[in-house]
This record gives sequence, C-alpha cells and structure tokens, in this order.
Amino acid sequence: MESLPIVRLQGVTKRFDDVCAVDSLDLDIYQGEFLTLLGPSGCGKTTVLRLIAGLETLSAGEISMNGSRLNGTPPNKRNVNTVFQSYALFPHMTVFENIAFGLRLKQSDKQAIRHQVSEALDLVKLSGLENRRPHQLSGGQQQRVAMARAIVNKPQVLLLDEPLSALDYRLRQEMEIELKRVHRQLGITFVFVTHDQEEAISMSDRIAVMNEGRVEQIGTPIKIYEEPENMFVARFVGEINVFDGHVVNVNNGSAVVDIHGQLFPVQNRKKAGTGDKVRVLLRPEDIQVTRDADKNGGPALSGKVDEVIYKGKTVDLVISLDAGETINVTQFFNEDQEDLVYGEGERVHVDWLYGWEVIL
Ligand SMILES: Nc1ncnc2c1ncn2[C@@H]1O[C@H](COP(=O)(O)OP(=O)(O)O)[C@@H](O)[C@H]1O
Ligand SMILES: [Mg+2]
Repeated sequence: MESLPIVRLQGVTKRFDDVCAVDSLDLDIYQGEFLTLLGPSGCGKTTVLRLIAGLETLSAGEISMNGSRLNGTPPNKRNVNTVFQSYALFPHMTVFENIAFGLRLKQSDKQAIRHQVSEALDLVKLSGLENRRPHQLSGGQQQRVAMARAIVNKPQVLLLDEPLSALDYRLRQEMEIELKRVHRQLGITFVFVTHDQEEAISMSDRIAVMNEGRVEQIGTPIKIYEEPENMFVARFVGEINVFDGHVVNVNNGSAVVDIHGQLFPVQNRKKAGTGDKVRVLLRPEDIQVTRDADKNGGPALSGKVDEVIYKGKTVDLVISLDAGETINVTQFFNEDQEDLVYGEGERVHVDWLYGWEVIL
C-alpha cells in the first residue's frame, strides 16, 4: 500500500438540506484493492459511491483520481462504473444489448463491440444467454449481467452498491466467491458497499467501517474484527462482551486489570495508565469456560449457564456472571469432548488467553 492512491477523498462532505450524509470524510483507495464500505443503513455509503461516480456534487472537500481533481468532471468522463443494488437493467433489451449499450455510445466498430461483450460474458460465466431478456433470467443471472455491463469497458474502478442484497443466502454465498474471482481476474479496484459484516469480512482486502457520514476505522478484516478502535466498530462487526475494570499495574505492552476483584493480565495497545478505568472486550469465541476455577491456574470469573444453543459447528452459551454481566460464549462443538458440553443451570468459570482481549 505504499503506492499513491488511485482515488483520494479529502474532507468530502455532502449535505442534503439539513441532513449531513457525508461528513468531512478522508479516504484513500489503492490500485487493485477490494475495499468495502461497511455500515448501518443511512450512514452515507451510497452517497460516497455516488460522489465518486460523479452522480452527486460535493458540498465541500475534493475527490481526485490518479492525482487529478475530479470535482466538476461528469460521470461519463470518469474511469469509473457502478453496479447498482437494483441492477437497473433495460427490460426490453437482450443481455447482449444491455451489455453493449455503453460501448455503442462511444464507438461504432461492431466487431470490437461483439468481442468485448463476449469477453465480459465469459468472465461472468453467462456465455450462451446473450439473446435472453432480463425477465427470462434468475436473480443471480441478472446480477451477472449488471456486472458484465459495468466491466465491459474496463473501468479503473468498479463501484458496487450492495450488489448481493437482493439474493437469497445460498446464492449470495456463491456470488461472493464469483465476485472475488472476477476481481482477481480483472485486477481492477473494487469499492464495495454492504451493511453485512460477514460479507465484508469474507470478501475485502480492507474495510472502512462507517457511521453517520464518517469513517470510524479502516483496516484489514482481521484488524477490524480483532482490534476494533472503538465500541461502535466492536459492536458492528460482531458480537462482543464488555467487562468494566481498572488498571492496577502497567509494564511494557501489558497491563493488569482488576475485573470484579480478579487480576487479569491484558495487552495494553491503548497505553492505559495505572488507575485508569478501562473496558476489556472479548469476542464470544475467545472466552474459555471451565468447571473448575483453577483448572487453568489464572484468574477467572464465576457464573451460571443460562442457555445452551446448539448450532451444529458450535455451541453458544449465555452465561450470567455472579458479578452481574451476562456474556455470550461460542464453543466449537466436538463430539469427542463431551465433557466440554455444559448444561443449563450449571456452575462455571470463565477466563481467556492473554492477548485475545481488546482494551478500550
Ligand atoms: N437525495 C437525497 N435527498 C435527501 N437526503 C438524502 C438523499 N440521499 C441520501 N439522503 C440521506 O443521506 C443519508 C445517507 O444516505 P445513504 O448514502 O443512502 O446511506 P446508506 O447507503 O449508507 O444507507 C441518509 O440520512 C439519507 O436519508
Ligand atoms: Mg445505500
């Protein structure tokens, strides 16, 4: 990521009357990456894409591409295409005509157009369906036509606005893999929008987590999931357990945190000082459950199993701690280790391995 960004947003702001949809947002997008804008509905994701595409005008700030300012450049002069949530196919045109439409506006060489369309059809695995009309295609196939139409003129950047949200679960998973493949084969930059954290985590090189028109954190899926910078990110990208505590001791990169009278060594990335009140965050799968408090030797919190939810690969436990909190724990289910299966009402202790926690 040392190279110059292909698209750079600086102080980008968009107001609609009294709504600030995008609020002085800075974002660098690099050549060839799969970048996802992830955030709840209404946080400004679509508006960011529309600003990059030139379909909205900026209220403030600037967008540049390949080092040149784009402000004022019309959409068709930007080397950018968009796949919309609704696909926006022309219903009366065939698949071929839908894909060729943009090319026909720009060039007249029929042979070249046919060649480019057939390449695009190959890439999205739709060869043979060029004479169908959109209503004769499944949802997944329509989605592929929309993709083919957006890549046929080889844009530098492809913007994808929740392209999978209309598909059912199984098809969506299939298309996630397809989209990744197309991204790899084309080698162009994808800016993908979703409100689905699992989709974002499984597809992206980097994720920008958005909230109220701003970027809360940007990083690899692992960073975003394992080292959230704040509570919004921690909660939005997955389930999280929060323990309140205070720091009793710090040394080098670690700290000792008192949580309900138990002293837990934790990583101290945020450089908390002795006496600071902190929140210790743990994902459900990072918590260990034991029947014996001292089985693992270290500090532990006691509680009772309230619920056991078998999910096939995992067993989820809801545990109410004697000190007050209710926590969620995910255990990987293994039939051979039946002693790890807890029953409702059972007394247990919880702890975790050093380094699995995040401190805020
Ligand atoms: N054309 C518009 N006119 C007025 N308000 C708009 C318009 N487009 C978007 N907004 C508002 O801007 C905010 C961000 O919208 P949007 O970018 O569509 O969010 P997202 O795609 O993350 O759901 C929302 O509050 C939305 O209502
Ligand atoms: Mg949207």
